[in-house]
Amino acid sequence: MNLVRTFSDARASYKGTVALVPTMGFFHEGHLALMTAAQNSADTVVVSHFVNPLQFDNPADLERYPRDVERDMTIAEEAKVDVLFAPTSVEMIPQTPLTAVTVDGLTDTMEGVMRPGHFAGVATIVTKLFAGLQPHLAFFGRKDAQQLAVIRRLVLDLSFPVRVLAHPTVRESDGLALSSRNTLLTSEERLAARELSQGLFAAVTAVEAGERNGPRLESIVRGALHSSRPDYGELASQDRVERLSELDRPSFLAVAARVGKVRLIDNIAFDLAAGEVVADRGLRLKHPSLLYR
Ligand code: PAJ
Repeated sequence: MNLVRTFSDARASYKGTVALVPTMGFFHEGHLALMTAAQNSADTVVVSHFVNPLQFDNPADLERYPRDVERDMTIAEEAKVDVLFAPTSVEMIPQTPLTAVTVDGLTDTMEGVMRPGHFAGVATIVTKLFAGLQPHLAFFGRKDAQQLAVIRRLVLDLSFPVRVLAHPTVRESDGLALSSRNTLLTSEERLAARELSQGLFAAVTAVEAGERNGPRLESIVRGALHSSRPDYGELASQDRVERLSELDRPSFLAVAARVGKVRLIDNIAFDLAAGEVVADRGLRLKHPSLLYR
């Protein structure tokens, strides 16, 4: 594996087609699944590793964000990643940017409301990664459904020659979506955190029994939150991230809640196949995540 710190060193180490997996590090099997999908589709896999200060609206959250570059280098090496791009902050953000990428419309609901400036920070950094690393393909997780919509739209609007591919959410065996932030939960909070996916799966059961009403699905999700403090439970379209009163198109049911000091998000995507609604429940690990290794 090549560990590189600059855009030009990354580009100099490519062979053939290039797939990018953007991350903020502290790897788990969700990141590994994106790396494997990237390996199956391109000659060179470049994983970016940068805790992006532009996307944190809360300084305490940035401070607490788990970091361990040595650990991540070992994991990336074992995963046979070709290039680990771990830029210095000066390489990534040489000066406070005067240019920002904002994606309107898709960001005035859910995470866009709860975390002002968050998506501009994500869109700006991902634009810099696309410009500096020039990948042919880029892999993102469905775990961050609104982020995925924002990135697909910025690629369309700015004509980036990048194909964006999405991967299902990877979950612990009890359903909790993997997140680097899960390591910040106490054992009691870890149990409470199950409420997010439990509510989503209860809503999937209702959809499978024929429920299509948006507000009723949202109340099933919110109704599962007892020990965690809900921020929202919303059904929205996958492309425009518009709240839906009926599940009648590709959509996702999203939940955000605070468990202790940790804010968690999760969602289930609903796709339409031959007129049928199909829920993407994600993938479940059989053993506890390597987050706890
Ligand atoms: P990060 O949270 O490190 O996530 C990196 C990628 O992994 C994102 O595409 C995210 O959706 C995906 N991911 C996270 N948890 C996942 C899970 N349980 N299953 C499947 N995929 C999962 O998302 C970011 O970083 C940043 O916003 C970034 C795009 C790197 C820009 O800074």
